[in-house]
Amino acid sequence: MPVNSSEITPEKVYKKRRSLIAAGLGVLALPLLDRGYGLLQQKQEEKNLPFARVALEPSRQNQPLEPTPYETVTGYNNYYEFGYNKDDPAKADKSLITSPWSVEIGGEGADKPGIYDIEEIKGEHAIENHLYRFRCVEAWSMVIPWNGIKLAEVIKAAAPNSKAKFVRFTTLNDPQQMPNADWAGGPYVEGLTIDEAMNPLTLLATGIYDKPLEQQNGAPIRLVVPWKYGFKYAKSIVKIELVEQMPQNTWWLQNKREYGFYANVNPRFDHPRWTQATERIIGKLGRKPTLLYNGYAEEVAHMYPDLDNRLYFY
Ligand code: MTE
Repeated sequence: MPVNSSEITPEKVYKKRRSLIAAGLGVLALPLLDRGYGLLQQKQEEKNLPFARVALEPSRQNQPLEPTPYETVTGYNNYYEFGYNKDDPAKADKSLITSPWSVEIGGEGADKPGIYDIEEIKGEHAIENHLYRFRCVEAWSMVIPWNGIKLAEVIKAAAPNSKAKFVRFTTLNDPQQMPNADWAGGPYVEGLTIDEAMNPLTLLATGIYDKPLEQQNGAPIRLVVPWKYGFKYAKSIVKIELVEQMPQNTWWLQNKREYGFYANVNPRFDHPRWTQATERIIGKLGRKPTLLYNGYAEEVAHMYPDLDNRLYFY
């Protein structure tokens, strides 16, 4: 069932809700912001600029990124098909058969559908290295050196037509290979708009730290969308479809009030149960302020010109 436009929060309701939240949470959240965050400047910006354009914080955005150690990236994971605790996926038996592995590319928006072996995909497209911030919706973060292919290259090869408005990702769901395969009642599914999928930041990752992806990180191929919360990064992908209707995504199906389709990182819009203004850096003490679009506003804000309410929700 595609998402019905009546489920989109009307702008007026959203704005009213936002000011109520801002008034209420301002008091709670302010002590969490460190002095460098520039509270005065932030207030000034709020008065003068459209919401989506504030808080770019170039000084912080340009700080050198410190990669999270390999052992941490591969030891603290969310991959519920292998268990609910953060160390379950790393401890699980290596039961996923990652070779051979094929990915089906199709949907009504693809004029050249096909089923490709992962080695074929890797051989046809350049593997790039990108050090990206990673921000989970649970308010923790890492910095990860990914190796991967631009998703745009794979989509272009499928000859998208005018029906290609969204991209739907389906992941492996096999109880023989995954001890908790059925946790969501079906395969983990995710989606992007076609513009988001074609954005040069968006990757199909095949490795981390120049090593092939470990099972717990979504071997052999997973999505990377650095300006979005981590639940968008579907792991162990088996199907990519170019479609006309907005796809459903697993976390929205789990809890529609808490997890939206867009899920863009937004320090101004709290999760209903916790603040998104700051984040815990895994492996370090303390918290740091969260950046709008996770620090990638320059590359992605143009995709959301009138979509304040889609920074987090639909
Ligand atoms: N993909 C599948 N198939 N199953 C999952 O449980 N968890 C998501 C996402 N992709 C998940 C998934 C969530 S909530 C997050 S935060 C990231 O994977 C975590 O990626 P990492 O473990 O490599 O850090």
